[in-house]
Amino acid sequence: MTEPSRKPVRERRAITMLWPYIRHYPGRMLIAAAFLVIAKIATVWVPVAFKDIVDQLDPRIAVLVVPIALIALYGTLRLIGALFGQLRDSVFERVSQRAMRSSGLDAFRHLHRLSLRFHLDRHTGGIGRDISRGTRGVYNLLGWVVFNIIPTLFEIVVVIVLLLGHFDWRFAVVTLVTMLLYIAITIWITEWRTAGVRAMNEAESLANARSIDSLLNYETVKYFGNEEFEANRYDADLRRYEDAAVKTESSLAVLNGAQALVIALGLTALMAMAAMGVVAHKLSVGDIVMVNGWLLQLAIPLNMLGFTWRQIKQGVIDMEHMFALLDEHAEVCDAPEAPVLHVRGGAVRFEHVSFCYNPDRAILDDIDFTIPPGQTLAVVGATGAGKSTLSRLLFRFYDVTDGRITIDGQDIREVTQESLRAAIGIVPQDTVLFNDTIFYNIAYGRTDASREEVEAAARAAHIHDFVVSLPQGYESTVGERGLKLSGGEKQRVAIARALLKNPAILVFDEATSALDTRTEKIIQKELAEIARSRTTLIVAHRLSTIIEADRILVLDHGRVVESGTHAALLANGGRYAALWTLQAQQPAEAPAASLDV
Ligand SMILES: Nc1ncnc2c1ncn2[C@@H]1O[C@H](COP(=O)(O)OP(=O)(O)OP(=O)(O)O)[C@@H](O)[C@H]1O
Ligand SMILES: [Mg+2]
Repeated sequence: MTEPSRKPVRERRAITMLWPYIRHYPGRMLIAAAFLVIAKIATVWVPVAFKDIVDQLDPRIAVLVVPIALIALYGTLRLIGALFGQLRDSVFERVSQRAMRSSGLDAFRHLHRLSLRFHLDRHTGGIGRDISRGTRGVYNLLGWVVFNIIPTLFEIVVVIVLLLGHFDWRFAVVTLVTMLLYIAITIWITEWRTAGVRAMNEAESLANARSIDSLLNYETVKYFGNEEFEANRYDADLRRYEDAAVKTESSLAVLNGAQALVIALGLTALMAMAAMGVVAHKLSVGDIVMVNGWLLQLAIPLNMLGFTWRQIKQGVIDMEHMFALLDEHAEVCDAPEAPVLHVRGGAVRFEHVSFCYNPDRAILDDIDFTIPPGQTLAVVGATGAGKSTLSRLLFRFYDVTDGRITIDGQDIREVTQESLRAAIGIVPQDTVLFNDTIFYNIAYGRTDASREEVEAAARAAHIHDFVVSLPQGYESTVGERGLKLSGGEKQRVAIARALLKNPAILVFDEATSALDTRTEKIIQKELAEIARSRTTLIVAHRLSTIIEADRILVLDHGRVVESGTHAALLANGGRYAALWTLQAQQPAEAPAASLDV
């Protein structure tokens, strides 16, 4: 498995990539910032009010004279601090949620843009996990920066300014040094832990991807009695995660211990200085209460800083993976300002096409043919000859290595992929269905089709009667990858949805291979009817199904070795004729045929 996207992306880049997602809400961000300032100023003012209360209270006077207004102020400030903090959270929530949604959507769209080659190389479960973690990372990052880091920094600045105004400069210096040391130590130890956290995440992704792959292959696992083998493989992945997680958690203890030490030292020094000031009559008791209040208040969010920083780091790591996916450049792209494909008759032309999936192995070699509008071309040849590759190239899942493919004279690389794919319908060799209802799967051919159109397509594919005989009819679910349907039923669903799409060009890649001879004959007749007005490319192993084709190509090891009509090829006495004789003699054909008539 190649993992080209694992290259690390710098944190700064992750944060710059975040910007486009939040800048759409300048108003909300301004309001949240205003609420933040109000909340923090009120919070910092609480100890000031408290100091005034303490200083003006005289235990020798039995009646409560002066501080009533102060006490009311104290209560009000506390309330404002809490209230505006909450208001800021709720105003900003829309911004972070929207950023999470749009980044997730971007990643999803991008994944669909990436080439088949990319997807065949990756574990789908792992990608899904990268995206969900990445969007959560976006959310966490915004949340923690906005709700924790910025307010805390702001509060530190305000407290230091007030300390400078009210006290000896040394108070401010000790506070500042404590904060800086705390932040530095937190960042330093967290950096050191990052490799461990990353290893933990990777182990988790891998375990997850493997387990999904294993469950997707449920039947295969059972066929070969490999439950224990699968369990052992999964356990090996889990063990890697366990080891990484234990290491990460132990290093966490180091971080928390160091943070506690710095805070304890700073607080002790400040309280000692304040106490000395009181003894020397330079400070009032109210002052010591105020300093104490500020520091305790600061200690609360700072205590969270370790956790916050970890969340931010985690968010960055998670986003790294998601943005690395976004960085993955799409192999097949629309040319700049590509026009849409104009289909007139639907003439398909392969001009000296050569192709290889990997440079070290040629698959197609100088393939040259034309399917005139409305005609049918059949391709036959040994397994692995490159027949399905022709349809993948026509759909532009890959670009040709050499030569070109045109539709009505337009190079398919020069038109939009959307218009190209809209013009072609395919019944692929292996049909995979969505885990949804039969109706959904047929209607997928044209998502805005009406119920009548869906049923008409199902009738043409001879699956309607079967569907209505089911207890839930069209609403029956087909199971994961469509496995609750038989091979032939699945194939007919695929035919129905290709017919529903109603394209100018049709590709049938072994479209009826899973059907019994009788059903195949009936559907063949139907397909021939539909193909009459369309350009059609048929890939078939059973030669009896393509006798009517306007032209037949015999493909061997990626080269066209013979071509002509059925009759001409038979008369030729070449490879096709030999194949025909071989298939006609097959004993299995005879009883099946006699059963069918
Ligand atoms: N994504 C891929 N990467 C590398 N090689 C591939 C890929 N897909 C197919 N191949 C190889 O390309 C060759 C042609 O494959 P293709 O699917 O076109 O064969 P085919 O003629 O349709 O065979 P069959 O009759 O069995 O369906 C095969 O040897 C196959 O191993
Ligand atoms: Mg094939």
